[in-house]
Amino acid sequence: MQKDELVRWLSGQDDYISGAELSRIFKVSRSAVWKQIERLREDGYEIDAVSNRGYRLRGRPDHVDQAGLNELQRQMRPTLSLEQVVFAESADSTNAMARRALEQDGIRSGLYVAARQTAGRGRRGRQWQSDHADGLWFSLLLRPDLPPAALAATTLLAGLATVEGIHEVSGIRLGIKWPNDLLDPVSRKKVCGILSEVVIEDQSAALIIGIGLNLHTTEFPEDLREIAISLFQIKAQRQHPLQLLQAILTALARRLPRLAQPDQWLPDYLSNCLTIGQPVQVSYSDGRVLQGIARGLDHGGELLVEDEQGHTWTVRSGEVSIRGQSSPS
Ligand code: BTN
Repeated sequence: MQKDELVRWLSGQDDYISGAELSRIFKVSRSAVWKQIERLREDGYEIDAVSNRGYRLRGRPDHVDQAGLNELQRQMRPTLSLEQVVFAESADSTNAMARRALEQDGIRSGLYVAARQTAGRGRRGRQWQSDHADGLWFSLLLRPDLPPAALAATTLLAGLATVEGIHEVSGIRLGIKWPNDLLDPVSRKKVCGILSEVVIEDQSAALIIGIGLNLHTTEFPEDLREIAISLFQIKAQRQHPLQLLQAILTALARRLPRLAQPDQWLPDYLSNCLTIGQPVQVSYSDGRVLQGIARGLDHGGELLVEDEQGHTWTVRSGEVSIRGQSSPS
């Protein structure tokens, strides 16, 4: 009897389920059931045990583990079918885990979550500090049935879905700094970063969406203090990472099939976007800098910036900061 099988049975019950019944279901002794219940308690599951009635699941651990992910995989199946779900206490980077699963094991869809990352990666080759367990670090591997050209917009869609998932679970509505940094709209500090990678293989494309969410950090290192914030610092309340994960994945699964029809999601993206209407500075990798006002997005989700001469530039890439604010990394 696997721990997650037992969790599944307990979750499916509204009332107590007796040890005798569980031992019948799993064809193991009652003391084996009891031992497994004890192990689940050690993992952080709250399970009531009442004589003559049996066991009842009252609460789940407030951290992600493999059993929790297996249960999430099962519950998500009707909306998002995932071939593989993997939890690691420590990983180099969940984006790297997803890429290895794709390239070495031929996995078509998967979810990779790590309690800590030793080589967390940010956009533009930066490092993402995640060698502690106060955040939610995960990557989703998918092979959407869409032309590679349409996939460029995933980065925006992932930002929107993440805003929606976080809002549903925590009540906190973050704002999007184009393309997909999620900021606390009050302090304008960064709560969540997204690193999307498109891997082109033969005729098809795979997509890796890596999401890093600052959950419970109470103190950031000196170099991040002015630019980073956690959900806990916004609202002094611990969040349930598995619930957040499920809500974000559900929002993504709902949004992704419409990726190629921007009129179905760009208006929602725009209404959550903090960049539009603001003075911005775009720094290109070759050193060029463009200053202007962010006027809107075109149909492909590219940023339209009007410079002082009244000329409008289409910005596809480049580091965009809202002028007058320190730029979150
Ligand atoms: C950024 O804003 O620069 C993007 C940060 C993305 C961080 C996440 S954490 C999970 C996944 N694994 C990584 O190595 N990076 C992404």
